[in-house]
Amino acid sequence: MKAADPLTGRLANALAGPGYGVEPGFVTMPVVRQLVTSLRARDAAGGFHAAGIGAGAERRVRPDIRGDRICWLDGPQGAAERAIYASFEVLRVALNRKLMLGLTELQLHYALYPPGAGYQRHLDRSPRGIERVVTVIVYLNEDWDVADGGELVMATDTGELVISPTAGPLVLFLSAGFEHEVRAARRERLSLTGWFSRAAAGGLPY
Ligand code: OGA
Ligand code: MN
Repeated sequence: MKAADPLTGRLANALAGPGYGVEPGFVTMPVVRQLVTSLRARDAAGGFHAAGIGAGAERRVRPDIRGDRICWLDGPQGAAERAIYASFEVLRVALNRKLMLGLTELQLHYALYPPGAGYQRHLDRSPRGIERVVTVIVYLNEDWDVADGGELVMATDTGELVISPTAGPLVLFLSAGFEHEVRAARRERLSLTGWFSRAAAGGLPY
């Protein structure tokens, strides 16, 4: 039998235990730089729009609540995005095997927070017809200084967990389990954020 993969083992244990984890060194700086290049190319091509809150007819753009611009990825473009998709696919299969999560898909978007923008405390809700189970975040900010702000603040049983959006680690958590907010930063804040999901019980989207 193949030896258990330590990385996916740690991530599965994090979800099964506290329900969240921060895995250092998930992406290398060359990959981070290539992802930033891809993000910029997608932005130049008009792929970004103001993020909204709510879905369907309830969707509203409310920069006072959520001030980022996002670009949904409809599959990978270029080597770095392909590498990220491949790592996430390994993770999806491993989480299904170890935790029987039944994850069927991954939705990913780049997010760009201009200086001063944040995202008020919220729970990552599931769009109709799909159940978001695991949130994953990769920050794309090299040389982030703590003084730059922009922290992800998660509400946990043991208090606030404050994570600086510095490039390198993977942050993951059970989507339904943790309210969280993004504090305003004093410089542009880039990330790649995704949700592993499964089809919601009882339903097809309508
Ligand atoms: C989100 C979100 C957190 C972050 O996009 O739903 O909460 O740190 N992002 O970017
Ligand atoms: Mn969120």
